[in-house]
Amino acid sequence: MVNTYQLEVVESTNKKDKPLHDQVPFGTIFTDHMFTLEYEEGKGWHEPKIVPYGPITLDPAAMIFHYGQTVFEGMKAYRTEDGRVLLFRPEKNFERLNLSSERLSIPPVDEKAMLEYLTELIKLEKNWVPATQGTSLYIRPFIISTEANLAVAPAKAYKLMIILSPVGSYFTGGLTPVIIHVEDQFTRAVKGGTGMAKTAGNYSSGYQAQANAKKAGNADVLWLDGIEKKYIEEVGSMNIFFKINGEIVTPALNGSILNGITRTSIIELLGSWGISVAQRKVSVNEIYEAYEAGQLEEVFGTGTAAVISPVGELNWQGKKMVVNNHQIGELSQKLYDTITGIQTGKVEDPLGWTVEVK
Ligand code: COI
Repeated sequence: MVNTYQLEVVESTNKKDKPLHDQVPFGTIFTDHMFTLEYEEGKGWHEPKIVPYGPITLDPAAMIFHYGQTVFEGMKAYRTEDGRVLLFRPEKNFERLNLSSERLSIPPVDEKAMLEYLTELIKLEKNWVPATQGTSLYIRPFIISTEANLAVAPAKAYKLMIILSPVGSYFTGGLTPVIIHVEDQFTRAVKGGTGMAKTAGNYSSGYQAQANAKKAGNADVLWLDGIEKKYIEEVGSMNIFFKINGEIVTPALNGSILNGITRTSIIELLGSWGISVAQRKVSVNEIYEAYEAGQLEEVFGTGTAAVISPVGELNWQGKKMVVNNHQIGELSQKLYDTITGIQTGKVEDPLGWTVEVK
């Protein structure tokens, strides 16, 4: 059961300076306010509040610290040239939040109410939405288990928060093609695990592989399936697409891959251009063979944070696959221009994806 009460707003009296619009890092600056919502068994979700951004107090026995029962989302608000603020398919994020919560045994939220609360928060923080090309206001909703209890069982109390961060590009260097290590030792997820959920452990369990990859000059890790280390899954921060001899291919959702909203949008956008995307198993051997045959035309990642990130090189078992001579592919560029154009109101939104915050 979801209870929604009147939203309480406590305005900050100590407003921060905003970053210069052309110098926006990723995820280290936060706005003046945040949204909070509480859950207690028997009472449901209650006490929606917008309060000044700041630290929270938790019991050291809060279950989040011990068993990691938590989920999160990533979405963005964009500034249009005429000063309006747009959200991109925000309903999809709250839908996915509930799917992640179901997997982590966290009670569902009212998706419509969440969108209303978010809208109120963005209205209050509108001036924080940066305007420079390639920047946006990153929105991070998340839920943590707060009950003080060391039992290994779902908590009876939770806190949902939404924090906001003006951001530039996720990978340093903007739209420059990234170098990715294909990981064949560590595993991110397996079928039946939590791979399809946006939950903290899926990310932190990848840090060791990520650190090794970074030491060798890679920006991130491309995960393979956990059983055979043969089939491609996703990159740590994004889904992945390949253009092989004219065909666009992406790994099919199999329970261990995140159902990315940008991934879905790219498939739908390409469909609206009459280009179909094959969603199927893609083995790393197939990619290597395509590379050797000169048929690996483009590789790009998709994600809210990553947007469209061209991949310029894949490193797998000591073999280097240079893609498109480290240049941005024609399709990757067109997809980037179109999706960011829709998100910022520069190009028509024929699929009705943007929602204006008024
Ligand atoms: C996002 O793209 O919003 C994500 O949550 C990915 C995260 C690793 C930055």
